[in-house]
Amino acid sequence: MSVVVLDFGSQYTQLIARRLRELRAFSVIVRGTAPWEDILAHRPQALVLSGSPASVVAPDAPRPDPRVFASALPILGICYGMHLLALAGGGRVVPGRAHEYGRAALVHGGTGLFAGLPQPLPVWTSHGDAVADPPPGWEVLGSTAECPIAALASPDGRRVGLQFHPEVAHTPHGKEVLGRFLDRAGVDRTWTPENVAERLVVEVRDRAQGGRVLLAASGGVDSSVLALLLVRAGVDHKAVFVDHGLLREGERDEVVAALRGLGVCLHVVDASDRFLRALRGIRDPEEKRRAIGATFIAVFREKAAELGPFRFLAQGTLYPDVIESGEGAGAAKIKSHHNVGGLPAELGFELLEPLRLLFKDEVREVGRVLGLPDSIRLRHPFPGPGLAVRVLGEVTPEALAILRRADHEFVSALREEGLYGEVWQALAVLLPVRTVGVTGDGRRYGHVVALRAVTSADGMTADWARLPPEFLDRVAARITRRVPAVGRVVYDITGKPPATIEWE
Ligand code: XMP
Repeated sequence: MSVVVLDFGSQYTQLIARRLRELRAFSVIVRGTAPWEDILAHRPQALVLSGSPASVVAPDAPRPDPRVFASALPILGICYGMHLLALAGGGRVVPGRAHEYGRAALVHGGTGLFAGLPQPLPVWTSHGDAVADPPPGWEVLGSTAECPIAALASPDGRRVGLQFHPEVAHTPHGKEVLGRFLDRAGVDRTWTPENVAERLVVEVRDRAQGGRVLLAASGGVDSSVLALLLVRAGVDHKAVFVDHGLLREGERDEVVAALRGLGVCLHVVDASDRFLRALRGIRDPEEKRRAIGATFIAVFREKAAELGPFRFLAQGTLYPDVIESGEGAGAAKIKSHHNVGGLPAELGFELLEPLRLLFKDEVREVGRVLGLPDSIRLRHPFPGPGLAVRVLGEVTPEALAILRRADHEFVSALREEGLYGEVWQALAVLLPVRTVGVTGDGRRYGHVVALRAVTSADGMTADWARLPPEFLDRVAARITRRVPAVGRVVYDITGKPPATIEWE
């Protein structure tokens, strides 16, 4: 049972799916123009039609299968989706009628979807087209200054159109509006972390029965949850943790202790020297990534051959990866960076990807249910190439040692002062320059460390974290005192875009 979100290319489609799951309804995203059979395969209890950069009056506008409207399913249409609903019901949509972008105030009747909500209701809009005439018999539920028909419903109340975006944070009561639609549609609300975890364990048990499973463990939350699922499902597995020598202070011991403590059959390969050799003389970031990726695959392949044979390779693919690779949805946004843990198809295993329907925050919740310690569950993302893309220029053992210590001081201070959970990611970068400083005994020529801390929802965009100046002051003093090679500490105040989170 699910709510199928038909995607017409809106930048907010993933948000719709996430909000519905926060409301405990299981949502899946399907390409807006998908045939009715593909929609039915998800056993929908209700449909949501997303927004779109397109205009419904354009001849090539993406349209759903006509059986969507012929069905008896409850439908919520958002923005473009509302226009589709209005047209299908015999209403009229006019292009360029309202140019409403950003905040607006919705004046509503105070009943149904809007009962008990503030009057007017602050909402977020982004549209040029607008419904000029509602379909015959439909009721207008609300209007804004620019748009007289900003919310409408069919006579039986099972089809609702909203001109604004209830899924974005800028519509503060949007989740309540969505929740009321789900209530009226009679949608099952069973998508809880407990149910999801149970379902995943059963799925893994059924799928991997009798076959041995290999897993690349990175210490990150996805592969750790995956490893735990294998343990809970009682599957015959081996997890391989490749120490590429580019990890943070104490990371390997922490990961090994945590995963083994939870019953994961974990094999550690210490390949630091091999990776360092592969990186020697390389300064270009993409070349570093390539060298690390190739070495990783070689090391992993050798270990797999030693421990094998295996039938399955478990991978921590998440729902955004599935959506972004163009499967399921219309908006194909391809992430540019590759995961070093991403292994090539020619390794010849069947893939086991039980997390492929989950968002990152859901993986963390499932991890909580499965007993994953918070030290791993809530840890910041860490790139596959590790510290190699944070030592700018050539990666040497000396540079790595300096960076590792500086990073450790920064992250420890964040933890000690209760700020670690406030930021999405925090890191130190070692710059390939030296600057002059002065200490009690004279002038010094020291290294420069840049600190970066960002807030973000998904890493695609980010803002620099407004860490308290007093805190930054303490961190700078701590790093220069405890890591004598560092003579200067700077703080990165660039957003993404234009900068990326990592410096390389
Ligand atoms: P950027 O630097 O692109 O980073 O703003 C966005 C997020 O992705 C992580 N990142 C990587 N992860 N392999 C990975 O597995 C990589 O090569 C890589 N590069 C960046 C980065 O740490 C941030 O969380």
